[in-house]
Amino acid sequence: MGEQGLSERTWRVPLADVPVGDDLVEDVLAVVRSGWWSMGPRVEEFEHAFAEFTGASHAIAVANGTAALHLALLAAGCGPGDEVVVPSLNFVAAANTIVHTGASPIFCDIGGPDDLNLDPADVEAALSERTKAVLVLHYGGHPCDMDAALELAERHGLVLIEDAAHAPGATYRGRACGTLGAVGCFSFFSNKNLPVGEGGMIVTDDDDLAARLRLLRSHGMTTLTWDRHRGHASSYDVVLPGFNYRLDEVRAVVGLAQLRRLPEENAARAEVVARYREVLHGSSGLTMPFERVEDRKPSHHLAVVVLAEGTDRDGIRSSLADQGIQTSVHYPPIHRFTSYRDSSRRPLPQTDGVAERLLTLPLYGGLTDAQVETVVERLLQTL
Ligand SMILES: Cc1ncc(COP(=O)(O)O)c(C=O)c1O
Repeated sequence: MGEQGLSERTWRVPLADVPVGDDLVEDVLAVVRSGWWSMGPRVEEFEHAFAEFTGASHAIAVANGTAALHLALLAAGCGPGDEVVVPSLNFVAAANTIVHTGASPIFCDIGGPDDLNLDPADVEAALSERTKAVLVLHYGGHPCDMDAALELAERHGLVLIEDAAHAPGATYRGRACGTLGAVGCFSFFSNKNLPVGEGGMIVTDDDDLAARLRLLRSHGMTTLTWDRHRGHASSYDVVLPGFNYRLDEVRAVVGLAQLRRLPEENAARAEVVARYREVLHGSSGLTMPFERVEDRKPSHHLAVVVLAEGTDRDGIRSSLADQGIQTSVHYPPIHRFTSYRDSSRRPLPQTDGVAERLLTLPLYGGLTDAQVETVVERLLQTL
């Protein structure tokens, strides 16, 4: 294993960090020297490896997780006049991409302070005759109630899309998150469990959906530059108006290296979270949501605590920052943003009830015991 990333040098305990293995560096140099940088054989290799890792029939690499969501929604047929139900406690990419298809996001609530995933009963309450799809999130890498979501989608004839940006390696009843619905979307942004910088992956078992996703990824063109370079094709047709959402070869080998060490990364994260939970849960009225649930294996993307009501979260965050400890908030609920205030037509009492109380602590596999102790000690002092 090589060095940890740059963020170590600016924070005593950064929120996230990237592992930089020697194999990754060597593989990147080899691709750079190869002279073939745009989408080609390494992207294909990354797709095969990811499909094998998740058990999906198809994996389609894309430029980032937002592109993955956008294409998944489009391939699922979401468009003007449709509604897509999505939890408000989520990254804004989910709502933005729904809007980009021409559909409208309809926000649903979460279970409560102990379960920050969507509340299936509230998803049901949010449905209308215009609902086309449900976009579920596995918050922080904790699998949401997929039995309920799948049953509901089937009963109402809806497409179930999984935002699995937090959940590579997480499983629900032994099956990989992202592979339970019609289509699953992953992000490889730098702070994720499988960090590439920018990158994403879409998985599906549906052959037609996969073919459509591949076309949408690259301008609707029937051949790739790589095919033409190899002499396997000399021209192309365009069969739908697509995008350039391709991944490139350099990032594909970074992804392959990070995928190889993902199980180790997730296991190390689980240990850090167990330590946080042991010491913090119940201290000063603070709780850690997502007690262990039978048959669900989380990927531990985020270490989120729910502060006691009335706690000065901003004060705590700035005090910790002064001591070199980086924290964050996942997430300011989408329905409260200026751009989405008008589309907020439903009461979301559980989401609103935790919005000012969520605090995300540093979490990554390379976090040392001493760093974890520092975070715990300083947080408890500050509280
Ligand atoms: C839950 C969730 N969905 C979607 C995204 C979008 O991914 P990306 O940043 O790779 O576009 C992110 C990450 O940033 C995310 O956390």
